[in-house]
Amino acid sequence: MNKGTVAWESPSNIALIKYWGKKGRQIPRNPSVSMTLKNAVSKTWLSYSERNKEWLTFEFEGKNVPAFAKRIEKFLEGISEDLPFINDYTFHIKSENTFPHSTGIASSASAMSALAMCLCSMEEQVTGKKLEANEFMRKASYIARLGSGSASRSIYNSYATWGESVAFSKASNDYATPFSKYIHPIFKDYQDFILIVSGEKKKVSSTAGHALMNDHPFAQARYEQANANFERMLGILRSGDLESFIEVLENEALSLHGLMMNSNPSFTLLRPNTLQAIELIRDFRESTKIPLGFTLDAGPNIHLMFPKNEKEQVTNFVEAELKSLLEGGRYLKDETGSGPKLLTIANGK
Ligand code: PMV
Repeated sequence: MNKGTVAWESPSNIALIKYWGKKGRQIPRNPSVSMTLKNAVSKTWLSYSERNKEWLTFEFEGKNVPAFAKRIEKFLEGISEDLPFINDYTFHIKSENTFPHSTGIASSASAMSALAMCLCSMEEQVTGKKLEANEFMRKASYIARLGSGSASRSIYNSYATWGESVAFSKASNDYATPFSKYIHPIFKDYQDFILIVSGEKKKVSSTAGHALMNDHPFAQARYEQANANFERMLGILRSGDLESFIEVLENEALSLHGLMMNSNPSFTLLRPNTLQAIELIRDFRESTKIPLGFTLDAGPNIHLMFPKNEKEQVTNFVEAELKSLLEGGRYLKDETGSGPKLLTIANGK
């Protein structure tokens, strides 16, 4: 088959235990676990034909974005040992996100996982060899990891781990492992409201962020903490203990930002409104006993996490007390999602 098109949609995810620090070929320094989102997704269309000189075009939401094209080119070159057919084809890739611009949502997880799914489908088409479903997912997760570590986890629905741990023998450094079958019912439809404190571009790329851990004075202590939090979190996801969930969730978020503040160079990504919102969230939890917790990515925006049956109360709280702290009053409602979806697959001559 020398021509064809394949398209996948794939979601972003929010890390409950954070991957921060890596070595070698995208090997994490500690295990992580995340919840796959439902609404924040990337859609990627990949058309291929015989290789010619101009072998790659990339369009993001209808525009050429040279910085993204460069990253895709480097990624495809970097994985040509893993997927040797890449060297024989010309690629026309188009991608778009369903979530709005300038929300600070990490799009590399959704974009790189969608592209990895496309490449694995393309491999099946061009070689005529079909993988068994589990093997296909594992391979896609491995390829996604090489594009962006957190993307490895977006291949799976519900919850996924990535990174070796004595607490979970199935976990690997090379690809993510699904965790959905161990989840307590309360977490099956967990909510994540993403509060947009600022839509500004990230001040620290994740590559530079991970590098900060290389000679960080607290690196060893962090990896020990992350391993302990990971083990606790897997237990919590099984048991449904929401008080402990919130304790570990917030400890991870603030540890990540602590590490950024006391690294060299130092980054303060939290904004005054982030801190004010955190105070209000904690006061609300204290006074209502509603199990509302938060986490943060490497940016100022807050992920509010809570059980589905509290949705109305939490929405009222956000509208009444937090909205004025948000850029343009914006927040996105998301929740646990079901993972990547195949959009198109077609062979041509
Ligand atoms: O996948 P990367 O290299 O963009 O790194 C992701 C880092 C965090 O989002 C801060 C944590 C995580 O585990 O997703």
